[in-house]
Amino acid sequence: MPRSTRLHPAARRLSGRLDKRTARIGVIGLGYVGLPLAVEFAKAGFRVTGFEIDAKRAATLNRGVSYIQDVPTAEVRTLVKEGRLRATLDFDELTRMDAIDICVPTPLRKTRDPDVSYIVAAVQAIVPRLKRGQLIVLESTTYPGTTDELVLPMLQEHGLAVGKDFFLAFSPERVDPGNAKYQTRNIPKVVGGVTPTCTTMVAELYATVMDQVVPVSSTQVAEMVKLLENTFRSVNIGLVNEIALMCDKMGVDVWEVIDAAATKPFGFMPFYPGPGLGGHCIPIDPFYLSWKARQSGFECRFIELAGNVNSGMPYHVTKRVYEALNSIRKPLRGSKILVVGVAYKADIDDVRESPSLDIMEILEKDGAKVSYADPYVPRIRHNGSNLNARPLSASAIRAADCVVIATAHKTLDYALIAKHARTIVDSRNALRGRRTRGVFKL
Ligand SMILES: NC(=O)c1ccc[n+]([C@@H]2O[C@H](COP(=O)([O-])OP(=O)(O)OC[C@H]3O[C@@H](n4cnc5c(N)ncnc54)[C@H](O)[C@@H]3O)[C@@H](O)[C@H]2O)c1
Repeated sequence: MPRSTRLHPAARRLSGRLDKRTARIGVIGLGYVGLPLAVEFAKAGFRVTGFEIDAKRAATLNRGVSYIQDVPTAEVRTLVKEGRLRATLDFDELTRMDAIDICVPTPLRKTRDPDVSYIVAAVQAIVPRLKRGQLIVLESTTYPGTTDELVLPMLQEHGLAVGKDFFLAFSPERVDPGNAKYQTRNIPKVVGGVTPTCTTMVAELYATVMDQVVPVSSTQVAEMVKLLENTFRSVNIGLVNEIALMCDKMGVDVWEVIDAAATKPFGFMPFYPGPGLGGHCIPIDPFYLSWKARQSGFECRFIELAGNVNSGMPYHVTKRVYEALNSIRKPLRGSKILVVGVAYKADIDDVRESPSLDIMEILEKDGAKVSYADPYVPRIRHNGSNLNARPLSASAIRAADCVVIATAHKTLDYALIAKHARTIVDSRNALRGRRTRGVFKL
Protein backbone atom coordinates (compact mmCIF):
# COMPACT_ATOMS: atom_id res chain seq x y z
CA MET A 1 0.00 0.00 0.00
CA PRO A 2 1.53 3.44 -0.88
CA ARG A 3 2.43 5.48 2.21
CA SER A 4 -0.05 8.29 1.46
CA THR A 5 -3.07 5.93 1.43
CA ARG A 6 -2.09 4.68 4.91
CA LEU A 7 -2.35 8.23 6.26
CA HIS A 8 -5.44 9.65 7.91
CA PRO A 9 -7.42 11.93 5.50
CA ALA A 10 -6.29 15.16 7.23
CA ALA A 11 -2.65 14.07 6.95
CA ARG A 12 -3.13 13.02 3.34
CA ARG A 13 -4.55 16.41 2.48
CA LEU A 14 -1.69 18.24 4.17
CA SER A 15 0.83 15.96 2.48
CA GLY A 16 -0.68 16.77 -0.93
CA ARG A 17 -0.61 20.51 -0.28
CA LEU A 18 3.02 20.34 0.85
CA ASP A 19 3.90 18.33 -2.22
CA LYS A 20 2.26 20.83 -4.56
CA ARG A 21 3.58 23.82 -2.57
CA THR A 22 0.01 25.08 -2.17
CA ALA A 23 0.20 24.77 1.64
CA ARG A 24 0.15 28.10 3.47
CA ILE A 25 3.01 28.42 5.95
CA GLY A 26 2.84 30.62 9.06
CA VAL A 27 5.87 31.58 11.13
CA ILE A 28 5.24 33.06 14.58
CA GLY A 29 8.16 35.32 15.55
CA LEU A 30 10.30 36.78 12.77
CA GLY A 31 13.70 37.11 14.46
CA TYR A 32 17.12 35.54 13.88
CA VAL A 33 15.45 32.13 13.54
CA GLY A 34 11.98 32.88 12.15
CA LEU A 35 12.90 35.24 9.33
CA PRO A 36 15.51 33.00 7.61
CA LEU A 37 13.08 30.08 7.90
CA ALA A 38 10.19 32.09 6.45
CA VAL A 39 12.42 33.21 3.56
CA GLU A 40 13.48 29.61 2.86
CA PHE A 41 9.85 28.43 2.66
CA ALA A 42 8.94 31.36 0.41
CA LYS A 43 11.92 30.61 -1.85
CA ALA A 44 10.67 27.01 -2.14
CA GLY A 45 7.44 28.33 -3.63
CA PHE A 46 5.11 28.49 -0.60
CA ARG A 47 3.07 31.49 0.40
CA VAL A 48 4.40 32.45 3.83
CA THR A 49 2.88 34.70 6.49
CA GLY A 50 4.95 35.89 9.43
CA PHE A 51 3.06 36.64 12.65
CA GLU A 52 4.71 39.32 14.76
CA ILE A 53 3.93 41.41 17.82
CA ASP A 54 6.62 43.92 16.87
CA ALA A 55 4.83 46.34 14.51
CA LYS A 56 8.11 47.92 13.39
CA ARG A 57 9.58 44.56 12.29
CA ALA A 58 6.38 43.64 10.44
CA ALA A 59 6.27 47.01 8.62
CA THR A 60 9.97 46.79 7.71
CA LEU A 61 9.50 43.33 6.23
CA ASN A 62 6.40 44.39 4.31
CA ARG A 63 8.48 47.19 2.75
CA GLY A 64 10.77 44.44 1.44
CA VAL A 65 13.62 45.25 3.81
CA SER A 66 15.57 42.70 5.88
CA TYR A 67 16.60 43.56 9.44
CA ILE A 68 18.54 40.30 9.98
CA GLN A 69 22.17 40.35 8.85
CA ASP A 70 22.19 36.85 7.30
CA VAL A 71 19.04 37.53 5.23
CA PRO A 72 19.75 39.68 2.15
CA THR A 73 17.30 42.53 1.52
CA ALA A 74 17.37 41.70 -2.22
CA GLU A 75 15.84 38.29 -1.46
CA VAL A 76 13.19 39.71 0.87
CA ARG A 77 12.29 42.44 -1.62
CA THR A 78 11.70 39.91 -4.43
CA LEU A 79 9.65 37.56 -2.24
CA VAL A 80 7.50 40.38 -0.84
CA LYS A 81 6.97 41.79 -4.33
CA GLU A 82 5.92 38.39 -5.66
CA GLY A 83 3.39 38.08 -2.80
CA ARG A 84 5.10 35.01 -1.34
CA LEU A 85 6.22 36.60 1.93
CA ARG A 86 4.47 39.06 4.22
CA ALA A 87 4.12 39.85 7.88
CA THR A 88 1.01 40.55 9.88
CA LEU A 89 -0.01 41.52 13.39
CA ASP A 90 -3.43 39.93 12.86
CA PHE A 91 -3.37 36.49 14.47
CA ASP A 92 -6.84 35.66 13.07
CA GLU A 93 -4.99 34.84 9.86
CA LEU A 94 -3.59 31.75 11.63
CA THR A 95 -6.80 29.90 10.66
CA ARG A 96 -5.71 30.06 7.01
CA MET A 97 -2.34 28.37 7.66
CA ASP A 98 -1.63 24.70 6.96
CA ALA A 99 1.62 24.61 8.92
CA ILE A 100 2.67 26.95 11.74
CA ASP A 101 6.24 27.27 13.03
CA ILE A 102 6.72 28.83 16.46
CA CYS A 103 10.03 30.74 16.63
CA VAL A 104 9.59 32.98 19.69
CA PRO A 105 12.27 33.78 22.31
CA THR A 106 12.97 31.50 25.27
CA PRO A 107 14.98 33.58 27.75
CA LEU A 108 15.84 32.86 31.37
CA ARG A 109 14.28 34.57 34.33
CA LYS A 110 16.62 36.37 36.75
CA THR A 111 16.53 33.21 38.87
CA ARG A 112 17.93 31.21 35.89
CA ASP A 113 14.58 29.44 35.49
CA PRO A 114 13.09 29.02 31.99
CA ASP A 115 10.77 31.78 30.84
CA VAL A 116 8.37 29.97 28.52
CA SER A 117 5.84 32.81 28.57
CA TYR A 118 6.51 33.63 24.88
CA ILE A 119 5.76 30.03 23.89
CA VAL A 120 2.59 30.10 26.00
CA ALA A 121 1.48 33.37 24.37
CA ALA A 122 2.09 31.98 20.86
CA VAL A 123 0.19 28.77 21.61
CA GLN A 124 -2.64 30.74 23.23
CA ALA A 125 -2.93 32.64 19.97
CA ILE A 126 -3.22 29.36 18.05
CA VAL A 127 -5.69 27.52 20.34
CA PRO A 128 -8.93 29.33 19.38
CA ARG A 129 -7.87 29.28 15.72
CA LEU A 130 -6.69 25.68 15.47
CA LYS A 131 -8.07 24.03 12.36
CA ARG A 132 -8.40 20.39 11.29
CA GLY A 133 -5.33 19.30 9.31
CA GLN A 134 -2.94 21.92 10.72
CA LEU A 135 0.66 21.08 11.61
CA ILE A 136 2.15 23.00 14.55
CA VAL A 137 5.92 22.93 15.02
CA LEU A 138 7.76 24.37 17.99
CA GLU A 139 11.26 25.56 17.02
CA SER A 140 12.19 27.61 20.10
CA THR A 141 14.90 25.99 22.20
CA THR A 142 13.38 24.65 25.39
CA TYR A 143 13.52 21.91 28.05
CA PRO A 144 12.63 18.28 27.17
CA GLY A 145 8.92 17.82 27.73
CA THR A 146 7.73 21.29 26.68
CA THR A 147 5.92 20.11 23.55
CA ASP A 148 4.16 17.15 25.17
CA GLU A 149 3.59 18.56 28.64
CA LEU A 150 2.94 22.25 27.98
CA VAL A 151 1.95 22.79 24.33
CA LEU A 152 -0.10 19.64 23.68
CA PRO A 153 -2.56 20.04 26.60
CA MET A 154 -3.19 23.65 25.56
CA LEU A 155 -3.94 22.66 21.95
CA GLN A 156 -6.11 19.74 23.07
CA GLU A 157 -8.42 22.19 24.85
CA HIS A 158 -9.77 22.79 21.37
CA GLY A 159 -11.15 19.22 21.21
CA LEU A 160 -9.28 17.98 18.13
CA ALA A 161 -7.24 14.75 18.31
CA VAL A 162 -3.49 14.96 17.89
CA GLY A 163 -2.02 12.74 15.15
CA LYS A 164 -5.40 12.50 13.43
CA ASP A 165 -7.07 15.91 13.29
CA PHE A 166 -3.97 18.05 13.84
CA PHE A 167 -0.25 17.41 14.09
CA LEU A 168 2.28 18.61 16.61
CA ALA A 169 6.08 18.33 16.58
CA PHE A 170 9.30 19.81 17.87
CA SER A 171 12.21 20.67 15.61
CA PRO A 172 15.23 22.44 17.08
CA GLU A 173 16.60 25.41 15.21
CA ARG A 174 20.37 25.11 14.70
CA VAL A 175 21.05 28.32 12.78
CA ASP A 176 24.49 29.86 13.39
CA PRO A 177 24.34 33.60 12.67
CA GLY A 178 27.29 34.82 10.62
CA ASN A 179 28.16 31.32 9.36
CA ALA A 180 28.64 31.64 5.60
CA LYS A 181 29.00 27.88 5.00
CA TYR A 182 26.08 26.47 7.00
CA GLN A 183 22.73 28.17 6.74
CA THR A 184 19.09 27.15 7.14
CA ARG A 185 19.01 24.91 4.04
CA ASN A 186 22.13 22.82 4.55
CA ILE A 187 21.99 22.30 8.32
CA PRO A 188 20.37 18.86 8.86
CA LYS A 189 16.96 19.28 10.51
CA VAL A 190 16.06 17.07 13.48
CA VAL A 191 12.31 16.46 13.84
CA GLY A 192 10.25 14.62 16.44
CA GLY A 193 6.46 14.37 16.46
CA VAL A 194 3.98 13.63 19.25
CA THR A 195 2.78 10.63 17.19
CA PRO A 196 4.36 8.78 14.25
CA THR A 197 2.01 10.61 11.85
CA CYS A 198 3.09 13.94 13.37
CA THR A 199 6.72 12.94 12.68
CA THR A 200 5.86 12.03 9.10
CA MET A 201 4.13 15.38 8.59
CA VAL A 202 6.92 17.50 10.07
CA ALA A 203 9.52 15.53 8.09
CA GLU A 204 7.54 16.21 4.90
CA LEU A 205 7.32 19.91 5.73
CA TYR A 206 11.07 20.34 6.17
CA ALA A 207 12.00 18.04 3.28
CA THR A 208 10.61 20.80 1.05
CA VAL A 209 13.32 23.25 2.17
CA MET A 210 16.14 21.34 3.90
CA ASP A 211 18.79 19.15 2.30
CA GLN A 212 18.55 16.58 5.10
CA VAL A 213 15.82 15.74 7.63
CA VAL A 214 16.64 13.59 10.68
CA PRO A 215 13.50 12.06 12.25
CA VAL A 216 13.75 10.97 15.89
CA SER A 217 11.33 8.93 17.98
CA SER A 218 9.76 11.65 20.15
CA THR A 219 9.48 15.37 20.81
CA GLN A 220 11.56 14.90 23.99
CA VAL A 221 14.46 13.43 22.02
CA ALA A 222 14.31 16.33 19.54
CA GLU A 223 14.23 18.86 22.42
CA MET A 224 17.14 17.11 24.15
CA VAL A 225 19.25 17.04 20.96
CA LYS A 226 19.46 20.81 20.91
CA LEU A 227 20.27 21.03 24.61
CA LEU A 228 22.98 18.39 24.29
CA GLU A 229 24.56 20.36 21.42
CA ASN A 230 24.58 23.63 23.30
CA THR A 231 25.57 22.09 26.63
CA PHE A 232 28.48 20.41 24.81
CA ARG A 233 29.64 23.83 23.65
CA SER A 234 29.14 25.52 27.00
CA VAL A 235 30.99 22.79 28.93
CA ASN A 236 33.90 22.64 26.47
CA ILE A 237 34.23 26.41 26.46
CA GLY A 238 34.12 26.30 30.28
CA LEU A 239 36.86 23.65 30.28
CA VAL A 240 39.13 25.62 27.97
CA ASN A 241 38.49 28.81 29.94
CA GLU A 242 39.58 26.99 33.09
CA ILE A 243 42.66 25.64 31.29
CA ALA A 244 43.42 29.24 30.21
CA LEU A 245 43.28 30.45 33.84
CA MET A 246 45.46 27.51 34.87
CA CYS A 247 48.01 28.18 32.09
CA ASP A 248 48.12 31.81 33.17
CA LYS A 249 49.17 30.76 36.68
CA MET A 250 51.77 28.38 35.25
CA GLY A 251 53.15 30.87 32.74
CA VAL A 252 52.16 28.72 29.73
CA ASP A 253 50.68 30.22 26.54
CA VAL A 254 47.27 28.50 26.28
CA TRP A 255 46.81 29.58 22.66
CA GLU A 256 49.98 27.82 21.58
CA VAL A 257 48.88 24.72 23.51
CA ILE A 258 45.49 24.62 21.73
CA ASP A 259 47.00 25.16 18.28
CA ALA A 260 49.41 22.30 18.80
CA ALA A 261 46.74 20.00 20.31
CA ALA A 262 44.48 20.73 17.33
CA THR A 263 46.98 19.04 15.02
CA LYS A 264 45.82 15.69 16.44
CA PRO A 265 43.69 14.28 13.62
CA PHE A 266 41.24 12.42 15.90
CA GLY A 267 39.78 12.61 19.39
CA PHE A 268 40.33 16.34 19.91
CA MET A 269 38.27 19.33 18.86
CA PRO A 270 39.65 22.81 19.56
CA PHE A 271 37.63 25.23 21.68
CA TYR A 272 39.06 28.63 22.47
CA PRO A 273 39.02 30.70 25.66
CA GLY A 274 37.41 34.11 25.60
CA PRO A 275 35.86 36.89 27.66
CA GLY A 276 32.69 34.89 28.38
CA LEU A 277 29.64 33.48 26.66
CA GLY A 278 27.11 35.54 24.72
CA GLY A 279 24.08 35.28 22.49
CA HIS A 280 20.62 33.88 22.92
CA CYS A 281 21.71 30.21 23.08
CA ILE A 282 24.89 28.99 24.76
CA PRO A 283 24.66 31.04 28.00
CA ILE A 284 20.96 30.20 28.39
CA ASP A 285 19.99 26.82 26.97
CA PRO A 286 21.98 24.58 29.36
CA PHE A 287 20.03 26.12 32.25
CA TYR A 288 16.77 24.99 30.63
CA LEU A 289 18.18 21.49 30.90
CA SER A 290 19.48 21.75 34.47
CA TRP A 291 16.14 23.24 35.58
CA LYS A 292 14.24 20.31 34.08
CA ALA A 293 16.72 17.80 35.50
CA ARG A 294 16.22 19.31 38.98
CA GLN A 295 12.49 18.57 38.66
CA SER A 296 13.49 14.90 38.45
CA GLY A 297 15.87 15.24 41.40
CA PHE A 298 19.00 15.27 39.22
CA GLU A 299 21.80 17.83 39.67
CA CYS A 300 23.71 18.68 36.43
CA ARG A 301 27.12 19.42 37.89
CA PHE A 302 28.91 19.99 34.58
CA ILE A 303 26.38 22.62 33.49
CA GLU A 304 26.56 24.56 36.75
CA LEU A 305 30.36 24.39 36.85
CA ALA A 306 30.79 25.49 33.23
CA GLY A 307 28.30 28.30 33.90
CA ASN A 308 30.33 29.48 36.90
CA VAL A 309 33.65 29.41 35.04
CA ASN A 310 32.25 31.11 31.94
CA SER A 311 30.42 33.83 33.84
CA GLY A 312 33.64 34.64 35.72
CA MET A 313 35.56 35.39 32.51
CA PRO A 314 34.59 39.09 32.20
CA TYR A 315 36.13 39.57 35.68
CA HIS A 316 39.29 37.86 34.52
CA VAL A 317 39.51 40.22 31.54
CA THR A 318 39.09 43.25 33.79
CA LYS A 319 41.82 41.90 36.05
CA ARG A 320 44.04 41.92 32.97
CA VAL A 321 43.07 45.56 32.38
CA TYR A 322 44.27 46.39 35.89
CA GLU A 323 47.57 44.65 35.11
CA ALA A 324 47.94 46.49 31.80
CA LEU A 325 47.33 49.86 33.45
CA ASN A 326 49.65 48.95 36.30
CA SER A 327 52.41 48.43 33.73
CA ILE A 328 52.12 52.10 32.73
CA ARG A 329 51.61 53.27 36.33
CA LYS A 330 47.99 54.25 35.96
CA PRO A 331 45.05 53.54 38.24
CA LEU A 332 41.83 52.32 36.63
CA ARG A 333 39.88 55.28 38.02
CA GLY A 334 39.95 58.01 35.37
CA SER A 335 41.74 55.85 32.78
CA LYS A 336 40.42 55.75 29.24
CA ILE A 337 39.52 52.26 28.03
CA LEU A 338 38.53 51.47 24.45
CA VAL A 339 36.63 48.18 24.13
CA VAL A 340 36.94 46.78 20.61
CA GLY A 341 33.98 44.58 19.68
CA VAL A 342 30.68 44.46 21.56
CA ALA A 343 28.90 41.81 19.46
CA TYR A 344 28.92 38.50 21.33
CA LYS A 345 30.91 36.80 18.58
CA ALA A 346 32.89 37.70 15.48
CA ASP A 347 31.35 39.10 12.31
CA ILE A 348 27.79 39.55 13.58
CA ASP A 349 25.78 42.46 14.96
CA ASP A 350 24.04 40.75 17.91
CA VAL A 351 24.88 42.07 21.40
CA ARG A 352 22.47 39.90 23.40
CA GLU A 353 24.18 38.63 26.58
CA SER A 354 27.50 39.90 25.19
CA PRO A 355 30.35 39.67 27.72
CA SER A 356 31.73 42.94 26.30
CA LEU A 357 28.83 44.72 27.99
CA ASP A 358 29.70 43.10 31.33
CA ILE A 359 33.34 44.13 30.91
CA MET A 360 32.33 47.71 30.17
CA GLU A 361 30.04 47.80 33.18
CA ILE A 362 32.64 46.40 35.59
CA LEU A 363 35.27 48.88 34.39
CA GLU A 364 32.88 51.82 34.58
CA LYS A 365 31.78 50.87 38.07
CA ASP A 366 35.41 51.05 39.11
CA GLY A 367 35.77 54.55 37.67
CA ALA A 368 37.16 54.01 34.15
CA LYS A 369 36.03 56.11 31.18
CA VAL A 370 34.88 53.51 28.69
CA SER A 371 34.13 53.87 24.97
CA TYR A 372 33.76 51.21 22.30
CA ALA A 373 34.39 50.53 18.63
CA ASP A 374 32.49 47.96 16.58
CA PRO A 375 31.84 48.21 12.83
CA TYR A 376 28.78 45.95 13.17
CA VAL A 377 27.15 47.73 16.10
CA PRO A 378 26.83 51.50 15.58
CA ARG A 379 25.03 52.05 18.88
CA ILE A 380 24.09 50.21 22.05
CA ARG A 381 21.74 50.78 24.97
CA HIS A 382 24.07 51.03 27.91
CA ASN A 383 23.16 51.94 31.48
CA GLY A 384 19.81 53.31 30.36
CA SER A 385 21.09 55.56 27.58
CA ASN A 386 22.33 55.32 24.00
CA LEU A 387 26.06 55.00 23.45
CA ASN A 388 27.50 55.47 19.95
CA ALA A 389 30.46 53.48 18.60
CA ARG A 390 33.72 55.31 17.89
CA PRO A 391 35.49 54.74 14.61
CA LEU A 392 38.60 52.61 15.13
CA SER A 393 41.06 55.34 14.15
CA ALA A 394 44.73 55.79 15.08
CA SER A 395 43.77 58.77 17.22
CA ALA A 396 41.01 56.88 19.07
CA ILE A 397 43.46 54.06 19.77
CA ARG A 398 46.20 56.44 20.88
CA ALA A 399 43.80 58.31 23.16
CA ALA A 400 43.10 55.14 25.18
CA ASP A 401 45.26 53.99 28.07
CA CYS A 402 44.21 50.45 27.31
CA VAL A 403 42.51 48.81 24.32
CA VAL A 404 40.52 45.69 25.17
CA ILE A 405 39.94 43.34 22.22
CA ALA A 406 36.73 41.60 23.21
CA THR A 407 35.38 40.42 19.82
CA ALA A 408 37.67 39.41 16.97
CA HIS A 409 35.74 40.66 13.92
CA LYS A 410 37.68 39.72 10.78
CA THR A 411 37.41 43.21 9.32
CA LEU A 412 39.08 45.03 12.22
CA ASP A 413 42.45 46.65 11.56
CA TYR A 414 44.63 44.76 14.04
CA ALA A 415 47.83 46.21 12.59
CA LEU A 416 46.52 49.68 13.48
CA ILE A 417 45.75 48.57 17.06
CA ALA A 418 49.16 46.92 17.41
CA LYS A 419 50.89 50.05 16.10
CA HIS A 420 49.14 52.72 18.18
CA ALA A 421 47.82 51.23 21.44
CA ARG A 422 49.61 52.05 24.69
CA THR A 423 48.54 48.77 26.26
CA ILE A 424 46.31 45.98 24.95
CA VAL A 425 44.25 43.30 26.63
CA ASP A 426 43.74 40.71 23.91
CA SER A 427 41.06 38.29 25.08
CA ARG A 428 40.82 36.56 21.68
CA ASN A 429 44.46 36.22 20.66
CA ALA A 430 43.54 38.44 17.73
CA LEU A 431 46.99 40.04 17.49
CA ARG A 432 48.75 36.67 17.01
CA GLY A 433 52.40 37.53 16.73
CA ARG A 434 51.88 41.17 15.69
CA ARG A 435 53.12 42.60 18.95
CA THR A 436 54.00 41.33 22.41
CA ARG A 437 55.17 44.44 24.31
CA GLY A 438 52.33 45.87 26.41
CA VAL A 439 49.99 43.05 25.34
CA PHE A 440 48.14 41.12 28.04
CA LYS A 441 46.57 37.97 26.70
CA LEU A 442 43.91 35.92 28.43
N1 LIG B 1 19.57 33.37 17.49
C1 LIG B 1 20.12 32.18 17.34
O1 LIG B 1 21.24 32.07 16.91
C2 LIG B 1 19.34 30.91 17.64
C3 LIG B 1 19.84 29.70 17.18
C4 LIG B 1 19.15 28.53 17.43
C5 LIG B 1 17.98 28.58 18.19
N2 LIG B 1 17.51 29.77 18.67
C6 LIG B 1 16.26 29.75 19.44
O2 LIG B 1 15.21 30.22 18.60
C7 LIG B 1 14.24 30.95 19.36
C8 LIG B 1 14.07 32.34 18.78
O3 LIG B 1 15.30 33.04 18.89
P1 LIG B 1 15.63 34.32 18.01
O4 LIG B 1 17.10 34.53 18.18
O5 LIG B 1 15.06 34.19 16.65
O6 LIG B 1 14.82 35.44 18.81
P2 LIG B 1 14.53 36.94 18.32
O7 LIG B 1 14.36 37.74 19.55
O8 LIG B 1 15.53 37.34 17.31
O9 LIG B 1 13.13 36.82 17.57
C9 LIG B 1 11.95 36.48 18.20
C10 LIG B 1 10.82 37.25 17.52
O10 LIG B 1 9.60 36.79 18.09
C11 LIG B 1 8.72 37.89 18.23
N3 LIG B 1 7.69 37.52 19.21
C12 LIG B 1 7.80 37.41 20.56
N4 LIG B 1 6.63 36.97 21.08
C13 LIG B 1 5.79 36.80 20.03
C14 LIG B 1 4.44 36.36 19.93
N5 LIG B 1 3.73 36.00 20.99
N6 LIG B 1 3.88 36.33 18.70
C15 LIG B 1 4.58 36.69 17.61
N7 LIG B 1 5.87 37.09 17.64
C16 LIG B 1 6.46 37.14 18.86
C17 LIG B 1 9.64 39.03 18.64
O11 LIG B 1 9.04 40.28 18.38
C18 LIG B 1 10.86 38.76 17.77
O12 LIG B 1 10.79 39.42 16.53
C19 LIG B 1 14.77 30.92 20.79
O13 LIG B 1 14.19 29.85 21.48
C20 LIG B 1 16.25 30.68 20.62
O14 LIG B 1 16.82 30.05 21.75
C21 LIG B 1 18.16 30.93 18.39
